Amino acid sequence: MARFQTIKGMRDFLPKDAEKLRYVRNTAMEIARLYSFEEIITPVVEHYDLLTAKSGEEIKARMYSFEDLGGRKVALRPEFTASIARLMATSLRNEPKPLKLYSSGTLYRYDEPQFGRYREFWQSNFEIIGSNKPEADAEIIILTDHFMKKLGLSKYLFKIGHVGIMRGLLSQEGADDEQQNRIMQLLDAKRWKEALATSRDFGVSEKSIDVMKHILETKGEDPSKVLPRVEDQLRGCAGSLAATENLQEILGLCRKGGADFEVLVEAGFARGLEYYTGMIFEILVPEMNISIGGGGRYDKLVELFGGEPTPSVGVAHGLDRTALAMENQKAAPRIMKKTVSVIPVNEDAVPKALETALRLRKSGIAADVEVMRRTVSRALQDADRRKSAYALILGPKEIKEGKLTLRDLKEHKQYLISLDEAVRKLLQKK
Ligand code: HAM
Repeated sequence: MARFQTIKGMRDFLPKDAEKLRYVRNTAMEIARLYSFEEIITPVVEHYDLLTAKSGEEIKARMYSFEDLGGRKVALRPEFTASIARLMATSLRNEPKPLKLYSSGTLYRYDEPQFGRYREFWQSNFEIIGSNKPEADAEIIILTDHFMKKLGLSKYLFKIGHVGIMRGLLSQEGADDEQQNRIMQLLDAKRWKEALATSRDFGVSEKSIDVMKHILETKGEDPSKVLPRVEDQLRGCAGSLAATENLQEILGLCRKGGADFEVLVEAGFARGLEYYTGMIFEILVPEMNISIGGGGRYDKLVELFGGEPTPSVGVAHGLDRTALAMENQKAAPRIMKKTVSVIPVNEDAVPKALETALRLRKSGIAADVEVMRRTVSRALQDADRRKSAYALILGPKEIKEGKLTLRDLKEHKQYLISLDEAVRKLLQKK
């Protein structure tokens, strides 16, 4: 019996799964290039205090934390944003703004494993740092929509809100930051009754509790209908009104900027992470009941870590979940698999086969050389199993004539041609 298996919540990626994940990662990297983001790589292990400063109770409770051999309290990162804010307060402090930073890698949360929820998972993370303007928020939403479309996803929607709507009201009622955080945590967990009761305990008036109830019920697909309803309820609360206006402006810019996606505006929407100060959103795949990404504006985090006031906005896409959504929506990755199987007919042809494979690879063509000395028919069966597009067969006759047999395994045609001609043909068909 095998002695070892993966730890609960951890996964191996066998070739097919690794290929899917790589496709999603490569597409994220292409989005980073198209939107002019630069890549940065940060460590997996960070100070516990950095990661927990504004992560919110939920993530804090699920952190992989330990004392290292030097006696430091450290943790495996549960997200990228804290590390990026750390950089903005230190090494990148004096860089000209805006900075547009992209990262991708593994993250760790001790979540209960279930469909689409793992303890080690992948994100691609995009942050625009240094702008407080709505066009920065819009860019984050537009690039996320572009990413989803580029992957072939068609059924998803942006659930969107603004933390300033609820916080504006609570501030006006005298609730301090900590009290507001507690209420927002309860709202994030959908424990609405408790959130209202706690607000009451914190001294929020009955009139405002009533307004909160209305806000929690105010949602809909058309921002031009939902947001005026929110404004009606919040007359006299300047902070909340400014938040509503800001959200309207961001969504307007997305539309005018040419992005076309489904939205669900939720006035009482809250997210678990505590650093958000403005617009917040999640990308939902309704039929799977999971979010494949989330983000928002956080204007105070860099300052909290000792940096300059640095308004920022960003998003993280859950790559494992995005790959699951692609499978569910039959969005096949467009992976170009044009491997050529190079098959020597006998032992004498082996050196020529190795030489031919090297020549193909140097020309940028993926080549899989037969290393088991199987018969041609067995090797061809294997080429089929590996989904090679072509086979190059080398035997005494071919070698004598300075040629090779190129077999198109899909169209079942074959040609006796020179290596140069074969390379040209394969490159054309790429
Ligand atoms: P988040 O909503 O905590 O945001 O995570 C973003 C995405 O990561 C989720 O929507 C989900 O797809 C994926 N994810 C989270 N936990 C798991 C898990 N246990 N298993 C699989 N996938 C998971 C953040 O992390 C923020 N840092 C986003 C951000 C960037 N805000 C501003 N900038």
